[in-house]
Amino acid sequence: MPRFAYVNGRYVRHADAAVHIEDRGYQFADGVYEVCEIRDGLLIDERRHIDRLERSLAELRIPKPMSRAALGVVLRELVRRNHVVDGLVYLQVTRGVAPRNHPFPAEGTPPALVVTARSVSRAYADHHAEEGVAAISVPDNRWDRVDIKTVSLLPNVLAKQAARDAGVYEAWFYDADGNVTEGSSTNAWIVTGDGVLVTRPAEHGILRGITRTVLLDVAARLGIKVEERKFSLEEAKGAREAFITGATTIVTPITKIDDRVIGNGAPGSVATELRKAFHDFAERSPRWSHG
Ligand code: PDD
Repeated sequence: MPRFAYVNGRYVRHADAAVHIEDRGYQFADGVYEVCEIRDGLLIDERRHIDRLERSLAELRIPKPMSRAALGVVLRELVRRNHVVDGLVYLQVTRGVAPRNHPFPAEGTPPALVVTARSVSRAYADHHAEEGVAAISVPDNRWDRVDIKTVSLLPNVLAKQAARDAGVYEAWFYDADGNVTEGSSTNAWIVTGDGVLVTRPAEHGILRGITRTVLLDVAARLGIKVEERKFSLEEAKGAREAFITGATTIVTPITKIDDRVIGNGAPGSVATELRKAFHDFAERSPRWSHG
């Protein structure tokens, strides 16, 4: 079955999809992206993802490639053409194509939009969640604006590879004060000895994850006490539970950080409860875009 991608106005076969060599995303990482979960053929939390996309674009002064309504149509059409039931849709907007030169290109240069969609087995993610995964810690060496979801992900790539080289799933960044910021592609959470859910405030130093935002709501509705505050790597290692969140991982327990086992080494009850409840609270977008 052929796969399709959307590239600058056209649905093309995935195998043939290409952008220009002078796309600023390719040359300068001058672009932003979003990853949205597809579940039962529906987009999860589309509204929040598109809100964040628009914020990222505004922060970098990249024009919107199209209206929300039109983007909604493209996302759905791509999910449909690729027969994705469970998986993800990836969308990327760059500052467009122009002769390589650092300043912004001429006014009116259209931003470039690429969208892909692919199936991911639900069983695969569930398996990780049931077993729990391990993480290593690495110093956070990223720039100051990690609140913008830019495609400039080299430190994240190197951190994730360090995790893979260590035979584990994720890498947790820690800042100069020894506080955990976030994972290389996830937000970081712990549960303290007295059952309080802790995650770093999203004002500075992390991406405001959509899964994170929804999960704060889920926790409140389940009556779980939450503190948005910084926590150190040491506190995390001594926590009752630790877990990560993201559009592709939802809630995935961390059972080991570096050489320290977390809790009793098995996924914790809070993480498990939150994972179970997540999709009762996340927004499922209708099959048709209302814009
Ligand atoms: N990553 N922090 C970072 C650095 C991320 O890259 C992500 C998402 C998150 C979680 O955000 P959300 O809950 O909105 O997915 C936190 C995506 C999935 C990726 O790069 O593939």
